[in-house]
Amino acid sequence: MFGKFALTLGLTVTAAAVFGGWSGSAASASPAPHVTRPAVFDRASASEAPQLGAAVNDVMLANAGPRYVRTLLAHYHSITPEWEMEMSQLEPARGHFTFARADGIVAFADRHHMPVRGHTLVWDHMVPGWVRHGDWTRPQLENVLRTYITTVVSHYRGKVEEWDVVNEPLTTDGHMRQSIWERVIGPDYVSLAFRWAHEADPHARLFLNEYGAEWNDPKEHALYQLVSGLKAAGIPIGGVGFQAHLLLDAHPPQAELTGVLRQFAALGLRLEITELDVRAGGSAPLARRMAEEASIYRTVAASCAAVRACARVTTWGITDAATWIGTSNRPLPFDTHYRAKPAWYALRAGLTPRG
Ligand code: XIL
Repeated sequence: MFGKFALTLGLTVTAAAVFGGWSGSAASASPAPHVTRPAVFDRASASEAPQLGAAVNDVMLANAGPRYVRTLLAHYHSITPEWEMEMSQLEPARGHFTFARADGIVAFADRHHMPVRGHTLVWDHMVPGWVRHGDWTRPQLENVLRTYITTVVSHYRGKVEEWDVVNEPLTTDGHMRQSIWERVIGPDYVSLAFRWAHEADPHARLFLNEYGAEWNDPKEHALYQLVSGLKAAGIPIGGVGFQAHLLLDAHPPQAELTGVLRQFAALGLRLEITELDVRAGGSAPLARRMAEEASIYRTVAASCAAVRACARVTTWGITDAATWIGTSNRPLPFDTHYRAKPAWYALRAGLTPRG
């Protein structure tokens, strides 16, 4: 079914340039403390449901009140800090690391035995001004990135079980995105980032996270080329995150999404839906929009449940009261009063694997 993918190389760069020829043997000399948290987040069998995670932010945790925390703790198993681990937050000035907000979320997660997905080490967005406006040579920017990754991943060693190491490296048409990292360091910033993250915490699962790759199309093909090349070069990538920011009129059919997930599963990677939400604004009757939204939630959850390597679905928030795309889009499983929406029931039903 996916045989033709081998022929569709969307990347503009050669594999050698992206993968940098790293052998994968340079593990850290200093052993990391072993993480004792039970490994409940790998699916033992295809009949076990994927876990459910939520993006959470410290403003909501501090101010949204007990219903927010109750809903989170009652229904979700893991946490992704929504913005607190972006580079602009963690190193706003060179060499000045500010971990307090992110530490607060990690402490909350730890108190409630919820694993944390670190989001995100290298991205084109949320790059602090001192990096964005610097006039860097390649060695200088490599040094900046290596210091950043090493400092952050070491700080959270044993506390953050997986990282989105590289976020959104591709354009819609399947080329390497011209981020500052790509322009100055070159396309092998991707493999370097994985290598440095692995050196800082050899036990952390390291993800490449992408949006708009849920369809069998050029962007997905390019993602497959990139990830399979990283695997083949021995780069320590452990998983692929599919963001799944979907719309009522732009969402993959179940067979297509399942096929995409199976293709990546064959590489021996853990897969996750990492940022699920559904933009459901518009002028159609609300009940109809909410029913369509629910059907999309069900499709995504069921696609993940159908592929054993797909271990978790994370929604990008919990309540329509707090979402990056605006309350009027009603993108999340709980409404502004924390009442479960049709999307919630569909999500639960979809996550339950069928016989
Ligand atoms: C959104 C968040 O919700 C904001 O809080 C953040 O600061 C930036 O945008 N892809 C991602 C997320 O990987 O980090 C984005 O999050 C949504 C798109």
